Amino acid sequence: MGNRDKKVSMAVVRRLPRYYRYLGELLKHDITRISSKELSQRMGVTASQIRQDLNCFGGFGQQGYGYSVEYLYKEIGNILGLYNGYTTIIIGAGNLGRALANHSNFEKRGFKLAGIFDISDDLIGEEVRNIEIMHMDKLDEFVKLHRVDIAVLAIPKQGVSEVAQRLANLGVKGLWNFSYTDLNIESDVNIENVHLSDSLMTLSYQITQKN
Ligand code: NAI
Repeated sequence: MGNRDKKVSMAVVRRLPRYYRYLGELLKHDITRISSKELSQRMGVTASQIRQDLNCFGGFGQQGYGYSVEYLYKEIGNILGLYNGYTTIIIGAGNLGRALANHSNFEKRGFKLAGIFDISDDLIGEEVRNIEIMHMDKLDEFVKLHRVDIAVLAIPKQGVSEVAQRLANLGVKGLWNFSYTDLNIESDVNIENVHLSDSLMTLSYQITQKN
């Protein structure tokens, strides 16, 4: 088991959170084991895709038994780093920053929110979910004193590169970037650009093709 050193393709990695969600649902319904066929029917992907994906990690199934749901759930969580206690900060306490801060599901997935930062004097000192909004002037000191693994960028695209570079220089490991620009900075920091409108435009395409 566990061929963990092998580099897993990002295409597979991007499917893992979905497996994790489905397995979590199965666990909630006290389903303790499942065949790749059953899982494939629920998820709308082929059984061979599931077997191939999970084989990237040495496979977790046993012939004739299927997969142990709890074991697979935990292993995928482990692979995704969900038990590493990653902490996050949010940069930008506007509509989006607050919505993300208020979304407690991220905490349930293991990502603890440690701080919220903004540049607007009007917002400094306000609280979102018992976390005080701090001024960006305090960022460097905060990151040096606390463990910060991930920064959520919920600020306008003007100036986001500068903020991203600053965070990378401070040693933050990952940037979850919601600003409408694909970040490209001088650092090996991991960046995940999120564009909700990409998903909306994909839906638009589907409606358009149908008509
Ligand atoms: P907003 O205007 O409500 O909030 C932006 C906040 O960022 C303000 O509080 C502002 O003071 C703060 N800010 C500006 N520059 C800053 C800096 N350098 N450092 C720290 N804080 C700074 O805007 P909203 O609606 O929250 O959106 C934030 C950004 O996210 C926008 O650029 C928007 O286009 C983008 N967005 C992206 C989505 C996506 O799917 N990627 C979805 C929704 C919004």
